[in-house]
Amino acid sequence: MSGRTIGIILGLGAGCLAMGIGLFYSLSSADLAVQDRQPVPFSHRLHAGTLEIACQFCHRHAKYSPVAGVPSLALCQTCHQSLPQTTPGMKVLQTYWEQKRAIPWIRLQRLPDHVYFTHEMHLFAGLTCTSCHGNVARMTGTPRAPTYEMGWCLTCHEQRGASHDCWTCHK
Ligand code: HEC
Ligand code: HEC
Ligand code: HEC
Ligand code: HEC
Ligand code: HEC
Repeated sequence: MSGRTIGIILGLGAGCLAMGIGLFYSLSSADLAVQDRQPVPFSHRLHAGTLEIACQFCHRHAKYSPVAGVPSLALCQTCHQSLPQTTPGMKVLQTYWEQKRAIPWIRLQRLPDHVYFTHEMHLFAGLTCTSCHGNVARMTGTPRAPTYEMGWCLTCHEQRGASHDCWTCHK
């Protein structure tokens, strides 16, 4: 995606993000600012890195459904219920829980509707989360894939001998 398009999307602001307009990756400082707008300051570096919680403990649908899924607050509470609330972030988490509200996570990356993708086949083919999302266990902000452009898919499909037929990804 061109820098100009990114600029336009960013120009429309966070309201549009919430309305579900996809924002695609480009490593600019403006994007890094967007990463920090999650309602709870969740850190993959702490949870997946330091605490070594497996990716699929939280993203449990990755192997079985097109959507990897973001964990429910109840899953967070399996640990957080009994942890002391030592940081402002943990207090925000407890407030959502007490008010029985789901955390409105902002999804930062999304393929366009005309593209077909499932996690399932990729994981069964032996790829790991890192192959596509990078070293998430070291990321403090929301994880970002390098890009979701067609050339990225095709380069790996080329290397791995997977399909190049248009209809594989465009149904
Ligand atoms: C303790 C639970 C937990 C663990 C463990 C965890 N995640 Fe997440 N993940 C989340 C939450 C919550 C979000 C949504 C908030 C955010 O984006 O930071 C998320 C978001 C994501 C996203 C989506 C970003 C987007 O908006 O497009 C990706 C990709 C991701 N995680 C990958 C991973 C990978 C890979 C691992 C293992 C290295 C992992 N996660 C481990 C809870 C977890
Ligand atoms: C397996 C246990 C476990 C799970 C599951 C878990 N956490 Fe945590 N979380 C921890 C521990 C341990 C800490 C660190 C506590 C400390 O430093 O005192 C922590 C810290 C945090 C913090 C504070 C970070 C900071 O620096 O302010 C937030 C916010 C947080 N977790 C959010 C979440 C969310 C949201 C989920 C669910 C998507 C989740 N956690 C799931 C164990 C867990
Ligand atoms: C072949 C590359 C690839 C691999 C391997 C991969 N992902 Fe993804 N992931 C993607 C793409 C592409 C999207 C965007 C899908 C969309 O927008 O429809 C995505 C989206 C996500 C999302 C956000 C949307 C959702 O589906 O909930 C999460 C969370 C996620 N991946 C977690 C993981 C985890 C955890 C693993 C490892 C178990 C993993 N991914 C392995 C490419 C990959
Ligand atoms: C890191 C390598 C890699 C990347 C990146 C990748 N793929 Fe794949 N993909 C594979 C492999 C390997 C297979 C073959 C799986 C099999 O048939 O065993 C595959 C198979 C597929 C299939 C056919 C299986 C199914 O799920 O129906 C589709 C569709 C697909 N990929 C879409 C995509 C799209 C869309 C993207 C980019 C957003 C993408 N892939 C990125 C490696 C990759
Ligand atoms: C491995 C998956 C994959 C295959 C195979 C594939 N595409 Fe795509 N295609 C994508 C993805 C992902 C996008 C979205 C890219 C983006 O939005 O930047 C896309 C976007 C497109 C677009 C829209 C471009 C745009 O700028 O919005 C066209 C047209 C297209 N593909 C045509 C084709 C044709 C023709 C073929 C066969 C020669 C093909 N694709 C094969 C994954 C694939």
